[in-house]
Formats: sequence, structure tokens, C-alpha cells
Amino acid sequence: MNEFEINIKAKRYNSINEMDETERRLLEAANNATKTSYAPYSKFNVGAAVLLENGEIITGSNQENNAYPSGLCAERVAVFYANAKYPNVAIKAIAVSSAVDNKINDKEVYPCGSCRQVLVESENRQKTKIKLIMGGAKSIIAIESVSLMLPFTFDLEEFSR
Ligand code: THU
Repeated sequence: MNEFEINIKAKRYNSINEMDETERRLLEAANNATKTSYAPYSKFNVGAAVLLENGEIITGSNQENNAYPSGLCAERVAVFYANAKYPNVAIKAIAVSSAVDNKINDKEVYPCGSCRQVLVESENRQKTKIKLIMGGAKSIIAIESVSLMLPFTFDLEEFSR
């Protein structure tokens, strides 16, 4: 038996103004996308913005449904739309933020487990890292690769069949 640790490196910003311009624009796009959320059940509005290698920004927001599992998180709406529109264009970064009553929450929001799995697969598919920016009005956390959020990722490709 041997024990091991897994550490991840993250950056915290206390304000959007501390970020470089590209990332600030991406997070602002995510903040704006919270306004397009359809969340009558949770009343928790999430926005996501994907920066593509071609410079385009694609946004998404959570879309809920009366039959609960039928809805989808903001991150997956944005990533799936980006992949559907440009199947061969890599994603460089994704920003996510949340709002309640039209106000961006102070605390940063973290992608759910299913979104992490989807983000890691996009990264594996394109073979380049996807930066993740988790935004709040008073705290923003950024990591260099979405895979850092999901150690021990399930990946069928790792098994010989
Ligand atoms: N949600 C997202 O869209 N992204 C996240 O990262 C966390 C959760 C949505 C799902 C649901 O519509 C609402 O937030 C409350 O869970």
C-alpha cells in the first residue's frame, strides 16, 4: 500500500479588474448569459461563456424543465453548442458565473460533476487544455485545465477491449 496526494494549483482574483482583458471579456460574457437562463424552478441563474481558438465566444445558460432531469446546466449548453457549431475548433477557456434575482452572486460557482465529465472529454478530444474560470462578484477562481477538477476521470479509452 502507498498513500498519495493529489494537489491542484488555482488562482484567486478578488475582482474582475485583476484579470487580463481576454479573460475579463469571457467572464463578462458569462455574467451577461445569466440573464438568458430559464430557471423557474431553482431560481438560480447560471451563465457560461466558451472562448474558441478562432476567437469567437459562445454563451449558454441553464435551461430547466418541469420534468427535472430534462434540463441542462449552462456549461453543457455552451460546450455542446460550440461543438455542434464548430466540431473541429478547440475550446481555449470556459467561464461560468451565477446570479439570483438579477444579481451576480458574490461567491464563485463550481461546475457540477456531470459538467466536469463533459469538459474533460472535450479536452481529451481536442488534446489541448481548457482553462476554467469560476466567477463570482467578489471572488474568481481560475485553473489551467478542467481535468484538475476531476481526478480519477472515467475514460473508456484507458481499457483495452
Ligand atoms: N447549474 C448550472 O447550470 N451549472 C452549474 O455549474 C451548477 C448548477 C444549474 C442547474 C440548475 O438549473 C440550477 O443550476 C440549480 O441547480
